[in-house]
Amino acid sequence: MRLTRRDTLIGGAALAAMPRMAFATPRVLEPKPGMAQLAPAERPETAIWGYDGLVPGPEIRVAQGARVEAVLANGLPQPTTIHWHGIRIDNAMDGVAALTQDPVPSGERFEYDFAAPDAGTFWYHPHNRTWEQMARGLYGPLIVEEAEPPAYDRDIVLMLDDWRLDEDAAIDEASFGSLRDWSHAGRLGNWPTVNGAPQPDYPVKRNERLRLRLINAANASVLVLRLDGMDAQIVAYDGMPVPPTPLEGTVTLAPAQRIDLIADVAGEEPGLWLAGRENFRACGFPVEGAARAKPLTDAVALPANPLPTGLDMDDPMRATVEVNGGAMGGMTEARIGGFGASYRGEEPVEGVLPLRTLAREYDLVWALNGVAGMPVEPLFNAERGRTVAVKLVNGGRWPHAMHFHGHHFRETKEDAPWRDTILLGPQETKEVAFIADNPGRWMLHCHMLEHQAGGMGTWFEVS
Ligand code: C2O
Ligand code: CU
Repeated sequence: MRLTRRDTLIGGAALAAMPRMAFATPRVLEPKPGMAQLAPAERPETAIWGYDGLVPGPEIRVAQGARVEAVLANGLPQPTTIHWHGIRIDNAMDGVAALTQDPVPSGERFEYDFAAPDAGTFWYHPHNRTWEQMARGLYGPLIVEEAEPPAYDRDIVLMLDDWRLDEDAAIDEASFGSLRDWSHAGRLGNWPTVNGAPQPDYPVKRNERLRLRLINAANASVLVLRLDGMDAQIVAYDGMPVPPTPLEGTVTLAPAQRIDLIADVAGEEPGLWLAGRENFRACGFPVEGAARAKPLTDAVALPANPLPTGLDMDDPMRATVEVNGGAMGGMTEARIGGFGASYRGEEPVEGVLPLRTLAREYDLVWALNGVAGMPVEPLFNAERGRTVAVKLVNGGRWPHAMHFHGHHFRETKEDAPWRDTILLGPQETKEVAFIADNPGRWMLHCHMLEHQAGGMGTWFEVS
């Protein structure tokens, strides 16, 4: 049996796990306070911030190559922006406060309008005080559909988060800005949700073929996931297709990373589990009836995206990003980056400062190449089309999720997938390379948001 596009879309709509809409343009997205039942039903609702007051925000779903037009109407008590994570976007639409646009004040609007060149699983979130705004619930899925996807019955987006709630199921606000979190692993939560719900169930049928889109929207938690009761193949990382690989055991999803799976319902009690967290069942897929007598055996590979992949490794431009700082990191001093200081009405701080002063007076506890916070000068300036190789060096004790804006990169080793975010373990060095083909000023930072806020951000330029 060959499923048609139409079947797939109807199946998707019937699921209604979250507000699902064809994106009539332009659409207003309003980040604002709302309420969500994050905790189990017998506990109180949680006051959150969400796009349109919802967590996750409305799903944006467009055809590959289509334009996304969205008006940000800021209903928050503080300035915000929207960053379209993983989209190889027009630089002016990248949503990075201070680097690509002014943050949008409360009550004001900003129009985003961009093309989505790659099909895949992407997402959107603020890029101003991201550590607070995302911890309060501001994020949503951005799905770009292939013209000819492989056959599957249903498309299910699973947006994972890890909240820090108190006994009354309220967001723990007292620990916002905790330098202890910032200098260690970031803000780790105590309550995981899927699509803003506590351990939700998604009914499925035996032998049904699902496309599961996993997105880690947690501030800092690296999720180790296990999928029970399904025969699943990994078909994409961070929106970029890979040759289908069976998912065996666990798979790791660092903050901001995505994985697309094609999964056939095979077992009795399918479920997605957080393996690292004393086996917490994040969501279940109760089986009701059968989709077909036997599982499908068709190919599951996704069509390629128009990403330039011909790296010129004979003569790349080279850069190094060395992570300094954090608890037990041995950093004693650093320079303050100073990017945007004048813009914020501050005097730039000159010279090298001891860590104690950086932490006490500026909340800076991390540095990249000896600079804490965004430097005035870019890490490198590449001519458009140039291959750039970046060595990422982590001599410290904490993992980091290094994210490049506007480009996908791959590790310079055999068969490494193209990604936009890569996990760098303690004491680990990785070399990545990409073709700098997207003009503009692009951020490169740790997606553990407290690390970013604490100094782990830099930028590069493509001209
Ligand atoms: Cu998803 Cu600069 O971030
Ligand atoms: Cu980090």
